[in-house]
Amino acid sequence: MVLTELPSTGKFIDHLIANHIQKLDQDPHSTESDRPFFIADTGPALNLYNRWRRALPSVAPFYAVKCNPDVRFLRFLADLGLGFDCASQTEIELVLSLGVDPSRIIFAHPCKSASAIRVAAAHGITLTTFDNIDELDKMKAHAPDMQLLLRIYAQDDTAAAQLGNKFGAPLTAAEPLLRRAKELGLNVRGVSFHVGSGARNPLAFTKAIHQARHVFDLAQHHLNTKMDILDIGGGFQDTNFEEMAVPLAYALDEAFPANTDSPVRVIAEPGRYFARSLYTMACKVISRRRQLLDYTPYPSMLPDMLYLNDGVYGSFMLVLLENEVFVPDTVAVRGVLGELGDEEGQRLRATGPHQYSIWGPTCDGIDCVAPEVVMEGEVGVGDWLVFRDMGAYSVVSATRFNGFSNDYDVIYASDYMAAASGVQGPTADSSGMLWKYVEWFLPGPLRGLLKQRV
Ligand SMILES: Cc1ncc(COP(=O)(O)O)c(C=O)c1O
Repeated sequence: MVLTELPSTGKFIDHLIANHIQKLDQDPHSTESDRPFFIADTGPALNLYNRWRRALPSVAPFYAVKCNPDVRFLRFLADLGLGFDCASQTEIELVLSLGVDPSRIIFAHPCKSASAIRVAAAHGITLTTFDNIDELDKMKAHAPDMQLLLRIYAQDDTAAAQLGNKFGAPLTAAEPLLRRAKELGLNVRGVSFHVGSGARNPLAFTKAIHQARHVFDLAQHHLNTKMDILDIGGGFQDTNFEEMAVPLAYALDEAFPANTDSPVRVIAEPGRYFARSLYTMACKVISRRRQLLDYTPYPSMLPDMLYLNDGVYGSFMLVLLENEVFVPDTVAVRGVLGELGDEEGQRLRATGPHQYSIWGPTCDGIDCVAPEVVMEGEVGVGDWLVFRDMGAYSVVSATRFNGFSNDYDVIYASDYMAAASGVQGPTADSSGMLWKYVEWFLPGPLRGLLKQRV
C-alpha cells in the first residue's frame, strides 16, 4: 500500500509562522516574544515513507528516536506502522508510553548499562545489539533471554558523522564473539551495522551488507547457528535517498535473496531521513552589529553581524558536530531599525543584496550559525529568520549554556488542519489558507461539499 502523497506545504508553514509572530508582537516586550519557535509538519514524512516503501520495500524502518523524540511525530510514525530504535531507557519508556508494542522496539545500543538492560527486559524488549565480550557477560547476567544482533564495523568516510570509531566489532572478532555467545547460551539472531550518519557513499552500504553475509555464513558453518535478522542501521538522507537505496537494494538482493529456505528479515534505523523536514524554525534577530566602515581607521571587509535568539549551543548544534551550513530561507520583516519607530525603520530599510554573518546568543566566539550569507534586503533587529529542515538532531541536542533556554514552542500544522475541518473552528484570518491545506487531504467529490459548508 502506498499512501496518498501531499503537495509541498511550504506556504502554509509560512502562514503559520506569520500568524505566530503577529501573536508575539501583541506583547513585544515579553520573554515569549524573544523565544525561537518551530512549526512541525508531518506531511513530508508521509512522502518520505512512500519513497522508502518504493525504494526499499523489503526493509522495515525502525525510526531512531534519538534524532527527534517529538511525541506527536512518534505517534504519527507509530500509526504508519514503523518500528523504533531506542538507545536509552528514557527513549524506550517514551515509545512504550504511546502504546507501541515492545516487539516493535530494538534497543540498538551495543554498550548499555546493566540497569538499562534490566529495565528494557522488564518492559518486554526482546532485541538488542552488542559488539564486545563484556556486553555478552552483562546480557547473560541481566537479560539472558534477550535476542542479540552482532554490530559489525562499517564506515562511510564521507558521512557527516562517523560512528565506526566508537562502535562495531571488526570482522576478525565476529567468530570469537559468536562462539562466546553460544557458550553462554545466548540467542544471536543476526547482524547490525551503521555506516555513519548522513551517509554519501553507497559502496559503504554494499560493502557492509556483504560483510554481514560473511558473518551469517560463518555462524552457520562454524557454529551451527542459523541467523535470520539483518539490521542495516541509519545514515539515510532525504536529499540522496534513492542514490543510496538503489545499489543497496541490489546488494541485499544478491546477498540476502528473499526466495530462499532461510529468508532473512531486514530492518533499518533511519533517523535523519524521516525527521529533517519535520521542523521549520523561526529565530528572531535580537541584535545587530554593523561594521560602520566609514568610521573605523582600518576598515575591514567583514560582513555586518546578526545575533539570533538561538545558536550552536541550541538547535544549531550540527554546525559544530558536522560542519552543517545553515542558510535562512525567508525573512519575516517585523522589527525596527536601530531606535527608530516601526514605520520610520521600514522606510529607511535598504533594499538589494546584503551580506551578513549570523551568530547565536551566547558569549562564545564559536557560536556562529553562518559565517557568510547573502540576504535579499537589509535585515534589522526584530526581524525573524526562517530555517527549513530543522527536524534532525536540533532541539534534542540543545543545551542551556550561558543560561539560555532549550525549551521551544512547537506549533503543529495538523492542529490547524483539525481547526479548519470544524473540530475547533478556524480563526478568521487564517481560514483561507487552512482550507486549502485541508482540501489537499480530501477526495475530489468531498472537496466541493465541504467548501459549501463554510
Ligand atoms: C545505532 C544508531 N542507529 C540509528 C541512528 C540514526 O542515524 P541517522 O539519523 O543517520 O539515520 C544512529 C545515529 O547516531 C545510531 O547511532
